[in-house]
Amino acid sequence: MEFRIYRYNPDVDQEPHLQTFEVETDRGMMLRDVLLEIKRRDESFAFRHSCGEGVCGSDGVNVNGRNRLACITPVSDYRKGPVVIRPFPGRPVIRDLVVDMSDFYRQYHAVDPWLKRKDPVPEQESLQTPEERARLDGLWECILCGCCSTSCPSFWWNPDKFLGPQALLSSWRFLADSRDQAEEQRLDDLDGPYKVFRCHTIMNCVDACPKHLNPTQAIGHIRNLMLKKSV
Ligand code: SF4
Ligand code: SF4
Ligand code: FES
Repeated sequence: MEFRIYRYNPDVDQEPHLQTFEVETDRGMMLRDVLLEIKRRDESFAFRHSCGEGVCGSDGVNVNGRNRLACITPVSDYRKGPVVIRPFPGRPVIRDLVVDMSDFYRQYHAVDPWLKRKDPVPEQESLQTPEERARLDGLWECILCGCCSTSCPSFWWNPDKFLGPQALLSSWRFLADSRDQAEEQRLDDLDGPYKVFRCHTIMNCVDACPKHLNPTQAIGHIRNLMLKKSV
């Protein structure tokens, strides 16, 4: 099968180019296996990966125009034609498929992704009802791969200002948590032109998420809560 791989080494290349590789594939092979084979042939080829099981979130790439995790994307999904693998769109390229994700992590950090309590911390667990715990399903599973935010046009244009779908999903994850006691402060922090309302519900983020999470829905929940609190 033919794979066209984005190559760019800023130390030597004037500009990026696509390099074509023919790789023999078999059933059950994932795109990460192809990248590893290319790495065996050309030691200078750079891409990130670690767990190989869709857990660490490090091997996000753009495949035929869509962001995917290479390790859980079967080669058999692309039987019909050449596969073009590029780095995440909208991110500065460090080398080949490795991009700078600093803005993405900065935005995640900006929503204070941890539980905040006003009451003294209980000696044992902070208990939740099964219903309260169930509200966190579809939120806690985020592996911070960045497939969503780097497919979001609003994030491409303003990565230093717009929180992006991942950070907004994380924000809702704590707003929805019955143990968190910082709702007012969290909502105040989300007020502003580059926060919740910069999302134009294009839903690229939902299509890109390898964990089948729904950042657009989380953003809708935040908007509804803001509206409820403002009346
Ligand atoms: S729905 Fe919102 S957050 Fe998701 S890709 Fe579109 S603009 Fe970005
Ligand atoms: S919401 Fe999905 S796509 Fe976005 S960082 Fe989390 S796991 Fe990745
Ligand atoms: S290598 Fe860890 S998610 Fe793909």
